[in-house]
Amino acid sequence: MGQNLILNAADHGYTVVAFNRTVSKVDHFLENEAKGKSVVGAHSIAELAAKLKKPRRIILLVKAGKAVDDFIELLLPHLEKGDIIIDGGNSHFPDSNRRDAYLAEKGLLFVGSGVSGGEEGARYGPSLMPGGNELAWPHIKNIFQDIAAKSDGEPCCDWVGDAGAGHFVKMVHNGIEYGDMQLICEAYDILKRGAGFTNKEIGDVFTKWNKGVLDSFLIEITRDILYYNDDDGTPLVEKILDTAGQKGTGKWTAINALDLGMPVTLIGEAVFSRCLSAIKSERTRASKILTGPTPAFSGNKEELIDDLEQALYASKIISYAQGFMLIREAGREYGWKLNNPAIALMWRGGCIIRSVFLGDITRAYRQQPDLENLLFDDFFHSAIDKAQSGWRSIVSKSALWGIPTPAFSTALSFYDGYRSERLPANLLQAQRDYFGAHTFHVLPEFASATLPANQDIHINWTGRGGNVSASTYLA
Ligand code: 6PG
Repeated sequence: MGQNLILNAADHGYTVVAFNRTVSKVDHFLENEAKGKSVVGAHSIAELAAKLKKPRRIILLVKAGKAVDDFIELLLPHLEKGDIIIDGGNSHFPDSNRRDAYLAEKGLLFVGSGVSGGEEGARYGPSLMPGGNELAWPHIKNIFQDIAAKSDGEPCCDWVGDAGAGHFVKMVHNGIEYGDMQLICEAYDILKRGAGFTNKEIGDVFTKWNKGVLDSFLIEITRDILYYNDDDGTPLVEKILDTAGQKGTGKWTAINALDLGMPVTLIGEAVFSRCLSAIKSERTRASKILTGPTPAFSGNKEELIDDLEQALYASKIISYAQGFMLIREAGREYGWKLNNPAIALMWRGGCIIRSVFLGDITRAYRQQPDLENLLFDDFFHSAIDKAQSGWRSIVSKSALWGIPTPAFSTALSFYDGYRSERLPANLLQAQRDYFGAHTFHVLPEFASATLPANQDIHINWTGRGGNVSASTYLA
């Protein structure tokens, strides 16, 4: 990643100083990939600091966590007021909040920047999501926007907000990435185990989808993976152990959603699906004991493919709507002015979730920057409307076939919950009051002398017990 970002910057006319603690790697890089380019090597941090123009702009690409703090400590003795330290790793945003404040005390400017797009993105145009000390932005804006991916000529990079805002937005990007990947995996499972398609046939379905509303990097790479055969001529993907890894960014998103009380259910299910996949030996034992239906697909293949496309599209709309709900709430909670059209544009190109669909989201937020929810935009609201019969058919078919679809199903449940003016939480409040005297409020139209409006009410449901209510608390 680091080497590729350096080469990218050099290609855009910048002179870059490269440093690695394993000095031989610097020399090897200068003699090979960076040969003939405007890249200068440094063999120590002192040399790195001496060679940089002031204010120094240093980007770290090290493993998130302690390594970032350690590196910052190594840099500090060599820096001066006004110098800029940019953390380009997948750091957790509270760490970036802390580093921003710590460096500000020393007169240094911190930037925590999300960098997405993998090695290829870093080389030819990543999506960059910088946040932190805004005083740094004029000094890094040109280089960041020059090396970033472009979407219709606009850079997929803009200033996100204060402190850890850049890493927060990257975290949500990764959570959405988890959701998109899970939805694709469920579609593959339905076609393979549910309807008995071969990998080549599924690859053809993805080829078709990539020409429509689902056109995206993740659909494209899935198509290639499905077509990829091992040396023996059989699909390599079928030889891969079915336990998913994770480095934590999806989990952080789900935890943050719980902390902020936002129903970001699809990302949560995507994280839990990885957890379920990871208990392979237990699942293997369960598969010998627990029974379920055997899929019996006998319908029209084209119809199934179309329904599945609609299910994927509608679920994806829900996932992004939920992601932007989390961003909205974080803006309120942490006091960040997060710019939704800019975020959608940053994700439009260069990153792992890049897609045509993000162009529509950018358009929706540009038209109405204070849009309360993506689902209130006419385009998305009618897209969901058109997609819902196929979506419902897929969720019910998979339940009947015994194929797990946690992401498709939670998206649909969220949709049905979100559009319900009345939910059964009235009963839940009654239960809480019954067993714990936790109190409830009465609907205004039923307010009376015994059930006053806007007040915590406790009823003695059994005729036993007292009239004392527990103090109301909200998690
Ligand atoms: C990106 C990716 C990148 C990385 C994830 C993978 O935007 O370039 O999101 O950050 O691929 O860290 O995360 P998991 O290992 O948790 O799947």
